[in-house]
Amino acid sequence: MADNRFFSTLLRVEEVDSTNRYLLEEAHRLPDRTVLIARRQTKGRGRRGREWETEPGALTFSVLFRALPPHRLTTLPLLAGLCGAEGIARLTDCSPRLKWPNDLLVMGKKAGGILCESRSGTDGTLSAVCGMGINLTADAEWFADRKLPQATSLLAEGYPMEGDALLAGIEEAFARRYESFLQEGFASFAPEYRTFCDTVGQPIFILDGTSSRREGTALGISEDGGLICRIGDREEVLHSGEVSVRPRDICSDF
Ligand code: BTN
Repeated sequence: MADNRFFSTLLRVEEVDSTNRYLLEEAHRLPDRTVLIARRQTKGRGRRGREWETEPGALTFSVLFRALPPHRLTTLPLLAGLCGAEGIARLTDCSPRLKWPNDLLVMGKKAGGILCESRSGTDGTLSAVCGMGINLTADAEWFADRKLPQATSLLAEGYPMEGDALLAGIEEAFARRYESFLQEGFASFAPEYRTFCDTVGQPIFILDGTSSRREGTALGISEDGGLICRIGDREEVLHSGEVSVRPRDICSDF
């Protein structure tokens, strides 16, 4: 029988500022594939420098990768997205989807976010962390109060789920996929990623960290996990560290 284990060490805390921050800073004294699970974060980090508020029942964790080759860094977020979606799909028939590169969507709304970060140690080794926050229990009012109308939780969509069961499903997906990801990169999971990805075919806004936002249409996912877009009369491949995209029918910056 296949071994579903991927995490080497499980740490649980009631509260931490950010599970990503903690694992990155403590990487030098923790084993590869340590997972840190927190009930609350006081300074959760989101993509593009934003804060991430943890809903009270969320599954909030980060995984430490101490032996990731640097050339696999750019596609780790996509692998994590796929593992998150597969973990959810294993427990319910809610058909989770991915907004490129790795937002977890349930019934068209954002139910989870993923942030991968890395840092080089003084000895030149690279540590990466992959943090996921998956909303499990908050109701529509909780998101409305925070002006997040495009966010949701699994329970709010009618899919109650235990955090530990979901974590086990995500761990199983990492265990199944990680070795071939190390060998072959994005190619090892591209077909499944494309099946889960909702962004292709959609009109999008492209946000690149400046105040400008460009309009385009997502055409496909490239061989290296980039988003192939038509922008005006040109085609461009966007990479996840550089930009963020929004479906054009959604105005809010969720
Ligand atoms: C996003 O903006 O969509 C990404 C959100 C990522 C949140 C998770 S929660 C666990 C981990 N620790 C953090 O500080 N952030 C990530």
